[in-house]
Amino acid sequence: MPIDYGYMEEGKLGKPYNLRLLRRLAPYAIRYKRVIALGLFLSLLVTLLNLAPPYLLKIALDRYILSSETQEILSQKSDAKKLAPMEPAHLSEARQRDLNGVAVLALILVGIIFLTFGFGYAEHYVLEYIGQNIMLDIRLRLFKRITSQSIRFYDHNPVGRLVTRVTNDIENLNEFFKSSLITFFKDIFILVGILAILLTLSWRLALVSFIVLPLIFVLTLFFSRLAREAFRELREKVAKMNTFMQERFSGMKTIQLFAREESEMKAFSRINHESYVAGMKQIHIFALFRPIMDLCYSFAVALIIWHGGDRVIKEYLTLGSLVAFISYIEMFFKPIRDIAEKYNIMQSAMASTERIFEFMDHRDIIPEPENPLAPLKVEGRLQFKSVHFAYDNDHPVLRDVSFEVQPGEMVAIVGATGVGKTTVVNLIERFYDPVQGNIYLDGVDLRDWSKHELRSHIGLVMQDVFIFGGSLKDNISLGRDEVDIDTIDLAITRSNASRFIRRLPHGMDQEMGEGGSSLSAGERQILSFTRALAYNPKILILDEATSSVDPETERLIQEAISRITQKRTTLVIAHRLSTIRKANRILVLHQGRIREQGTHEELMTLGGIYYRLNRFRET
Ligand SMILES: Nc1ncnc2c1ncn2[C@@H]1O[C@H](COP(=O)(O)OP(=O)(O)O)[C@@H](O)[C@H]1O
Ligand SMILES: [Mg+2]
Repeated sequence: MPIDYGYMEEGKLGKPYNLRLLRRLAPYAIRYKRVIALGLFLSLLVTLLNLAPPYLLKIALDRYILSSETQEILSQKSDAKKLAPMEPAHLSEARQRDLNGVAVLALILVGIIFLTFGFGYAEHYVLEYIGQNIMLDIRLRLFKRITSQSIRFYDHNPVGRLVTRVTNDIENLNEFFKSSLITFFKDIFILVGILAILLTLSWRLALVSFIVLPLIFVLTLFFSRLAREAFRELREKVAKMNTFMQERFSGMKTIQLFAREESEMKAFSRINHESYVAGMKQIHIFALFRPIMDLCYSFAVALIIWHGGDRVIKEYLTLGSLVAFISYIEMFFKPIRDIAEKYNIMQSAMASTERIFEFMDHRDIIPEPENPLAPLKVEGRLQFKSVHFAYDNDHPVLRDVSFEVQPGEMVAIVGATGVGKTTVVNLIERFYDPVQGNIYLDGVDLRDWSKHELRSHIGLVMQDVFIFGGSLKDNISLGRDEVDIDTIDLAITRSNASRFIRRLPHGMDQEMGEGGSSLSAGERQILSFTRALAYNPKILILDEATSSVDPETERLIQEAISRITQKRTTLVIAHRLSTIRKANRILVLHQGRIREQGTHEELMTLGGIYYRLNRFRET
C-alpha cells in the first residue's frame, strides 16, 4: 500500500459545501471584525465607483452629445451644407453648453478613476491583511496542536501529511478566503447594484436580457460538476507525484547504490505524464466553458441590440440607456462567468478545512493529570506491575510484565529483536499508556505525574539520534532554560565528548548540518549522551545506545557509562555482552513476558533463553 501523505485524501473532495465548517472558521475571523467591516465598506465603495462610468456615458450621450440642439445642428448641416455658414445664436450657445457638459463629465470620470485606484488599493490591502492574519493564527494553532499530540498520533500520520496540513491545506484556505469568500460579497454588491440599475433604465429590456440566465445556470452547474471531477483527479495525480518524489529523494542513497536511477526515471515519467493528462483534461473543460459563457454573453447583447434597438428607434428608450445597458450586462456577466472556478476553490478549501479541523479536534490519548503528584525528592525507583500493552489491539506486545528497579541499580533487559524492549522504554517515558496494569516512579503512578516533570527525570539515549539544524551547543541544551553553560560543560566531560568537540573547527558553535549529516554515527551517539546528561536525570535509559558505533567510540562510551551510571537508576538494553555484564540484574524478555532474571553467571548456568541468546551472540 502506498504511503498516504495526505494528498490522496482528495477523494473526500466533492462533499457538499459545508456551513458547519464555515461556522467553525468564524471565530478566527471574528477577531478581525472591525477590519473586516472596513474591508466590506471599501468593497462597497469600489463597487459603486465601478458602477458609475457607464451611467456617466449615458448622461454624456443623452444630455450633451445627442442633445436636441445638436440634432438640430446636424439636420441643418445636412439640409443646407453650402448655404448658411453661420449658425443661429441659440444653437451656438447650446453647442458651447454641450461641450462644457462633456468636459465636466470627462473630469468626473477621471476623478472616479483616481478614487477607484485609491480605494481599490486600500481594499486589496485590507482584505489581504485579514486573510494573512487569519492564516497566521490557524497555522500557529495547528502547529501547537500537532506538537502536543502523543507519539501514537505520529505512528498514524506520516511527516509528509502533517507538513501538508500546515502548509498546503492552510494555503487552500487562504486562496478560498481571497478569491471566494471576499469576492462573494463584492459579487453580490455588483449583481444587486446592476440589477437595480438595469431595472430602472428599462425593466422590459432587463427582463429580455435575463432570458439567458436559466441557460447560464444550467451550464454552470453542469460544468462545475465536470470541473470538480477533473480538479479532484488532478490533485490526486499531483499528490501521487509529490509522494513519489518525497520518497525517492529521501531514499536517494539506496537508489544510487542499487543503480535504480533509470527505472525510477521511468516510473517518474509515467506519473508525470498522468498528471499532465489530468491537467490537460481540466484545461480542456475550462477552454470549453469560458467560450460558452462568452457565447451566452454575446447572445444577451444580441437580444439587447435587437429589442433595445427597436425601442430606441421607436423612441421609447434613449441611445445612452442602450449603450449603458450593454456595458452593465458585461459587468453583470463577469462574476457569473467566474462562479464555476470559485465553486471549485471553495470545494477544495472545504476539504482542507475539514482535514485541518480533524487534526485540531484530535484529542491526545496520553492525558495530562488534573492534579499532578510528585514526590518531594525523586530517588529513581521504577516499578512495573502486571503491565499489558499492545500498539494495536490484535497484537499484544507485553503481557503481564512486572519488575522493579531500585534507586542506583543497573538493570539490563535482553531479548530477541522485536520482543518489546523499546516498548518498555516507550511506556516509561509515557509515550504510550499500558492497556492494563501500572507503572510507578517513586511510588507514584506515571499517569499522575505531569508529563514534563516525569520526562525531565529520565535521560534517554537511543540508537537513532536526532540532530537538529543549529549549533552544537543548541543541540545539547535543546533550548532548555535550566541548562546553562556550566551544566553543559559538566555533561560534556562526563560523556567523554570533549575529545571530538575539540576537533570541530568552531567547537561548541559548530553548525550541525540538517539531520546531523556532518557528524559520524559515533559522534552523534556521544552527543546524545551529553544531551541526556545535561538534565542530570535520576534515571538513565540506554536503548541499544552502543549498537552502531566503532570500537574506539564504544570504549569512550563504556567509560562514560561506568562513570555516569553511578548514583543513577539505569536501565540498559544492549547487544554487547560487555555492557550487559556490568548490570546488577538481567531481565530476559520472551514472547511478551519476563521469563528469566538474575546475574549473567546465574542465567548462564540456568541454561535457558538467556543462555541460548548468548550462544548465538558468541558464534
Ligand atoms: N509504533 C508501533 N506501532 C505498532 N507496532 C509497533 C510499534 N513499535 C513497535 N511495534 C511492534 O511491537 C513489537 C515490539 O517492538 P520493540 O519494542 O521496538 O522491539 P525491540 O525489542 O526490538 O525493541 C514489534 O513486533 C514491533 O513490530
Ligand atoms: Mg528496540
